[in-house]
Amino acid sequence: MSDLLPALESLKVLIVEDDENVRIGCQQALQLEGILTEAVGSADLARKMIGPGFPGIVVTDIRLPGMDGMELLRHLHDLDSDLPVVLMTGHGDVAMAVQAMKLGAHDFIEKPFSPDYLVGVVRRALERRHLVLEVQSLRARLNTRDNLEARLIGTSASIEAVRSLISELGDTSADVLIHGETGTGKELVARCLHDVSPNRKGNFVAINCGGLPESLFESEIFGHEAGAFTGAAKKRIGKIEHANGGTLFLDEIESMPIPMQIKLLRVLQERVVERLGSNTAIPVNCRVIAATKADLRELSDQGQFRADLYYRLNVVTLPLPPLRERREDIALLFEHFAVQAAARHGRPVPPASRERNRQMMAYHWPGNVRELRNVADRCVLGIDSGFPPFAPSQQANASRPLAETVEAFERALITEALRRNDNSLARTSEDLQVAKTTLHDKIRKYGLND
Ligand SMILES: Nc1ncnc2c1ncn2[C@@H]1O[C@H](COP(=O)(O)OP(=O)(O)OP(=O)(O)O)[C@@H](O)[C@H]1O
Ligand SMILES: [Mg+2]
Repeated sequence: MSDLLPALESLKVLIVEDDENVRIGCQQALQLEGILTEAVGSADLARKMIGPGFPGIVVTDIRLPGMDGMELLRHLHDLDSDLPVVLMTGHGDVAMAVQAMKLGAHDFIEKPFSPDYLVGVVRRALERRHLVLEVQSLRARLNTRDNLEARLIGTSASIEAVRSLISELGDTSADVLIHGETGTGKELVARCLHDVSPNRKGNFVAINCGGLPESLFESEIFGHEAGAFTGAAKKRIGKIEHANGGTLFLDEIESMPIPMQIKLLRVLQERVVERLGSNTAIPVNCRVIAATKADLRELSDQGQFRADLYYRLNVVTLPLPPLRERREDIALLFEHFAVQAAARHGRPVPPASRERNRQMMAYHWPGNVRELRNVADRCVLGIDSGFPPFAPSQQANASRPLAETVEAFERALITEALRRNDNSLARTSEDLQVAKTTLHDKIRKYGLND
């Protein structure tokens, strides 16, 4: 597992000293002890090298041309109040030493000093720095964990494992392959991975690999130059380029056509993309997360998926178990979605029901968490007596044509929203986030206006 926390030995000492002899003397003394050093001759140069979380400490002379050591200390502590700064004072300059400690210097060394003395002071400062960085890294992790617990609901061991893998991968940009049935939360997990990664400030770009005909797919993901083919009037930046500095989410990767797989593999290996109609290779630096419902290994054994692409994507695999294999999460998830739905629809949260829980526990949830969310929605709205979707009377419902089921659902939603908004067209259209004209047409279609 990778970690941002640097080892104690990899922390370094930045020496700020204008007297070349002293500077070189300090560096040699520390290097002989295997301590990493860098040295500069002015406070200005030092400031340019240091940001928050600097992996090391600073040893600076007080008397320097331009900005002096005291002022440097002040600047550095504005940036990072935990950064140990050791000041070197002239011999007998007690007042200066006292002031330095008041300003928060970690320690001071009186010139002239022996190499051993310097090494001792520096070692203590480095240990202190290491401890502070360790605490900061732990805190960041705890934060990530809390956030993840709020977003990725569940107390089952398998969901706990998913959360810890996400936070472990947080610091890295390792590519990840997410594997799970429909509705198990693959996209949600991909977004969580993006949000905790160093690439979080970049774009999260999702591509549905099965959703487009091959010809469109190519220009969509690779982009094209103006005039690359008939109909390509303007230049188009492809999705891969758009994900530069962020995350590229390849959804349903199993349905990517083989010729596309070959091109994608090249992008992943060389980290460059060429727009259609251009020979210029544009470097792209993005994290790749792929999601699949299928067993890619099996598909590649059968020749339906490129084995080389499978191995390239499969750096880290994150399996998402189906809901029926983590039944202990069902009640909690239902509660979570019911509270959300109740807030969204301005309705009360349905009271707990032993019977409902029993049925939910017995059901096999082919649509997994998404299906459970829909059940909670319907339950809050009290639609079709809404629950359970799997009771015998509703089983018949399930075999109705999709369009009919959708219409019945839509009709019920609109009826309910109209009732809630005292039949006001304006308020209902706002509530359902649909244009007034559209709503009006639907009200006529379903005969809700008489
Ligand atoms: N553990 C969870 N906690 C809270 N919400 C979840 C959890 N898992 C899934 N969801 C929610 O369930 C819905 C379905 O999840 P998502 O779209 O990520 O599934 P998917 O695996 O990508 O599905 P598909 O394969 O059909 O695309 C989303 O609304 C998502 O926010
Ligand atoms: Mg999905």
